[in-house]
Amino acid sequence: MFLKALVCLLLFLLLHRRSTLAASSSGRDDGDDFIFNGFGGANLTLDGVASITSTGLLMVTDTSMETKGHAFHPSPLRFRDLSNGTVISFSTTFAFGFISDYPGLSGHGMAFVISHTMDFSKALGSQFLGLFNQSSKAYNSSNHVLAIELDTILSPEFQDIDNNHVGIDINNLISNKSHTAGYYDDHTGSFERLSLRSGQAMQVWIDYHARDMLLNVTLAPIPMAKPHRPLLSAVINLSSVLLDPIYVGFSSSTGPWLTSHYVLGWSFKMNGVAQALDLSLLPSLPRAKSNHKLKVLRIGLPLASATLVLIIVGIVVFILRRRTKYSELLEDWELEYGPHRFSYKDLFEAAKGFRDTELLGRGGFGRVYKGVLPSSNSEVAIKRVSHGSRQGMREFIAEIVSLGRLRHRNLVQLLGYCRRQGELLLVYDYMPNGSLEKFLHDQAKPTLDWATRFRIIKGVASGLLYLHEDWEQVVIHRDIKASNVLLDNELNGRLGDFGLARLYDHGTDPQTTHVVGTMGYLAPELARTGKATAVTDVFAFGAFLLEVACGRRPVDPTAHEEQLVLQDWVVEKWRNGSILETRDPRLGEEYAVEEVELVLKLGLLCSHPLPTARPSMRQVVRYLEGHAPLPELSPASLSFSLVALLRKEGFDDHIMSCPSSSVATASLLSGGR
Ligand SMILES: *[C@@H]1O[C@H](CO)[C@@H](O)[C@H](O)[C@H]1NC(C)=O
Ligand SMILES: *[C@@H]1O[C@H](CO)[C@@H](O)[C@H](O)[C@H]1NC(C)=O
Ligand SMILES: *[C@@H]1O[C@H](CO)[C@@H](O)[C@H](O)[C@H]1NC(C)=O
Ligand SMILES: *[C@@H]1O[C@H](CO)[C@@H](O)[C@H](O)[C@H]1NC(C)=O
Ligand SMILES: *[C@@H]1O[C@H](CO)[C@@H](O)[C@H](O)[C@H]1NC(C)=O
Ligand SMILES: *[C@@H]1O[C@H](CO)[C@@H](O)[C@H](O)[C@H]1NC(C)=O
Ligand SMILES: *[C@@H]1O[C@H](CO)[C@@H](O)[C@H](O)[C@H]1NC(C)=O
Repeated sequence: MFLKALVCLLLFLLLHRRSTLAASSSGRDDGDDFIFNGFGGANLTLDGVASITSTGLLMVTDTSMETKGHAFHPSPLRFRDLSNGTVISFSTTFAFGFISDYPGLSGHGMAFVISHTMDFSKALGSQFLGLFNQSSKAYNSSNHVLAIELDTILSPEFQDIDNNHVGIDINNLISNKSHTAGYYDDHTGSFERLSLRSGQAMQVWIDYHARDMLLNVTLAPIPMAKPHRPLLSAVINLSSVLLDPIYVGFSSSTGPWLTSHYVLGWSFKMNGVAQALDLSLLPSLPRAKSNHKLKVLRIGLPLASATLVLIIVGIVVFILRRRTKYSELLEDWELEYGPHRFSYKDLFEAAKGFRDTELLGRGGFGRVYKGVLPSSNSEVAIKRVSHGSRQGMREFIAEIVSLGRLRHRNLVQLLGYCRRQGELLLVYDYMPNGSLEKFLHDQAKPTLDWATRFRIIKGVASGLLYLHEDWEQVVIHRDIKASNVLLDNELNGRLGDFGLARLYDHGTDPQTTHVVGTMGYLAPELARTGKATAVTDVFAFGAFLLEVACGRRPVDPTAHEEQLVLQDWVVEKWRNGSILETRDPRLGEEYAVEEVELVLKLGLLCSHPLPTARPSMRQVVRYLEGHAPLPELSPASLSFSLVALLRKEGFDDHIMSCPSSSVATASLLSGGR
């Protein structure tokens, strides 16, 4: 009796243990009928990234991008009736969930598959769902595949209806029938939409009725019971689709969106209704990770978009600044000067952004910078002339461009120009040795010997003659002085800045005239009438001759009273018979007496207060070349006091006391016009 009771107890315990084991294990698999309430320890054939997680989830694809995975029941199922070979009825249901790292974005999807093969190694991921590839995607009756797709991406290639649908696919991915994910409510009959990518667990039922050849697909959220009305219902002769051996399982693929596709449980039955899943036994879908990512996104996304906005604003500001930085003025009438026109950007780059290190000097018209043109690698000097009014600009540019056609070895070649708002840039050949003025007055510079000075003088004279007489039109230089004579690498003198003074003549009040020139170089009649002529150039050239020979500025306020005006002093010395004493003491004894005397006397002749008494540049060149003797002159014929004359012309002592170098441009108003 006791023994019987003990055996009963043992039997009970054993049975109880077996049933608990069955409940806690992954499921039951009796060949053609099976159920997995969770996949812990399940015997499935997996490939790709498919795996069974420690919690018993079948993860068909993980969160890697552009991957695929498959999970099949390991052995083929007997789908056919043995007597007549037709496909028999079957029923299956499974629970699934898609977990995306990005809320609202998911892809590509998963499919329940009944297939002739488990080998999908040649198939592609993404829109091909791990079932087909480019060459096999077309409908082909020898594919022998039935797929129920749960698709979260709209692939126009496969005529998808939306990015959240369920479809019945036969032998290709163009669904025979598809519907937006959802279910028909049993009570109201209305369609309730479901989002496959919601991260919620859902359940699918697939039922095939052999006699009617009717395939039903039903979807519902867990834990809802199976709705009566299926989502999809299609008449399909599966006997003609499926070919032995026939495998069942899942296929899934991901695209660029990090999505894991999970199956929580699966039940299958041939010729009957599949056993219902025990929802309480199903493993739960992971959330923590996606929530964490969500949080990161919630903070990261606004941060990222703010950064993006900042970057875009930065780029726009950069472009706008670049635009204004390189902006220039270009009008239609300038188009014909195309070849003479430089772009501001090129000049800006050539002069390294017009930095002070590139500054060659400051002239009466603006700053001069050294530059290397990026296109030709040639050295240039760039003069930035500020100019407020656009009035008269057209004429001036025309003139500048025509001056650019001047070719003479004693002129600094003008290469072209560029216009900006309120500014004009002129591009010249670069003169490596700078201006003559530096050599004459800067004690740091080496002294030029007499032969070099005489050669420079002759060069400048021939350049000026070319401007006055030998070119197609008369060009008045207007600002001849030592600082406008530049020295090339062989120390040849070249006249620069010709014609530039005209810039200040244009667009001015006709009642007034700005006299442009430099103190000491200004012919008396120029100050009176404001009219620049060839002979006012000759006057300035005379002052230049004296400056080169004597090494003194035409007007030197720091000098003794009798040496204040160089011209007066030279006349005075000549009268005393000691004109050679006025020569530059830095010359030493190495000079040709006749040449120095010639230059001094010619300088006085050229600077004759009476315009008619001055020689023309052609005559000047002939005297300098020794082709003609200097006309007989007496100091008495030149015994005007220039100071007295200038005072008579209305210059006051204040102006007279200004050093000529600082009054680079004397802009004087002469009322008597
Ligand atoms: C899994 O199933 C296959 C096919 O039925 C079988 O050959 C294999 O032995 C099974 N493996 C395990 C571990 O049960
Ligand atoms: C095949 O045989 C089964 C019974 O074994 C029967 O129910 C079914 O109707 C048959 N199908 C055809 C097409 O004859
Ligand atoms: C496409 O898939 C078919 C069947 O799986 C295979 O025979 C074929 O080689 C594949 N084509 C490519 C290009 O991978
Ligand atoms: C269908 O597939 C078979 C085998 O994969 C192949 O030989 C045949 O050419 C394909 N037919 C079409 C129309 O693509
Ligand atoms: C539907 O399936 C049949 C095979 O049962 C096939 O011949 C047909 O082309 C498919 N229709 C569409 C629209 O894919
Ligand atoms: C398929 O759904 C229809 C209703 O659309 C229903 O009449 C039929 O019984 C269902 N068949 C199966 C096998 O569930
Ligand atoms: C279904 O397809 C099979 C195989 O192609 C064929 O023998 C059978 O007659 C088809 N049944 C119907 C009703 O068309």
